[in-house]
Amino acid sequence: MDFTKKTILGRTGLSVSRLGLAGGYGVPAAAVERAFHEYGINYFYWSTPRKSGMGDGLKNLVSSNRKDIVIVLQTYDHLGLTVSRSVHKGISALGTDYADVLLLGCHYSYPPARIIRQSLALREKGMVRFIGMSGHNRKLFGEIARRSDCPIDIFMVRYNAAHRGAEEEVFPYLVGENRPGLTTYTATRWGKLLNPKKMPPGQRPLTPSDCYRFVLTDPHVDLCMMGPKNEAQMVEGLAALARGPLPADEMDRIRKIGDYVHG
Ligand SMILES: NC(=O)c1ccc[n+]([C@@H]2O[C@H](COP(=O)([O-])OP(=O)(O)OC[C@H]3O[C@@H](n4cnc5c(N)ncnc54)[C@H](OP(=O)(O)O)[C@@H]3O)[C@@H](O)[C@H]2O)c1
Repeated sequence: MDFTKKTILGRTGLSVSRLGLAGGYGVPAAAVERAFHEYGINYFYWSTPRKSGMGDGLKNLVSSNRKDIVIVLQTYDHLGLTVSRSVHKGISALGTDYADVLLLGCHYSYPPARIIRQSLALREKGMVRFIGMSGHNRKLFGEIARRSDCPIDIFMVRYNAAHRGAEEEVFPYLVGENRPGLTTYTATRWGKLLNPKKMPPGQRPLTPSDCYRFVLTDPHVDLCMMGPKNEAQMVEGLAALARGPLPADEMDRIRKIGDYVHG
């Protein structure tokens, strides 16, 4: 497995970098552009609330590289009041006609019919290409993956060394050519896996790169999100790409740390 090479995001057919860059913690615009030009990152998540760093970076990339980047816009609307407005606002702010992915954020049960209807209408109009969903009810993802009629093409699932339930509840159901694409988040477990004070006695903490490598070493994961707050954090995390999969003994060490941190 070579993490510097792009992979196909399940049935979307999108060719994506193995790490995706998220704007939620404040990564600045220049770093967003650097991630694309220098590291080949092409999956960008303008999470909610939409921070200016990711917005400005994407706006600059859109002007000459639109076809080479995958833009993910999110909505937390569960009532169906703002889905369309939020997508309109997002794409017009970026100077583009469409988002590649509309991510339905934080659903613990199957998204309400009106949300699905509105998402499909946006897809019909060409304003979004694919529909994704995030949430922490892992069993639901397993169920959705088994449904052939489901319009959700991309999952965003919690997965890290301490939270490995997706290995049983989601991964086994991602089979066949028509499987949804699998993206993950919370690789650092909200920074806890990096904290020396949370480690078992005598263990060194994980580095950000260890966290992303741990996630990507599982062959089911197409792409792992990273949420740096500055360029230095981003560069540290992106080192995971060149370092590649973790060896078995390091995976073992990290799983033990994960169990301890979870406990
Ligand atoms: N995590 C969630 O439950 C959640 C829910 C909904 C949406 N999202 C969105 O998903 C996106 C990805 O989030 P994530 O939680 O998956 O990101 P992540 O990359 O797992 O974690 C980001 C956190 O890890 C720490 N970190 C990252 N690189 C570091 C470095 N080089 N050195 C030290 N600390 C480092 C930072 O903590 P410090 O800030 O303490 O430095 C940062 O807040 C974000 O846009 C977020 O808004 C996340």
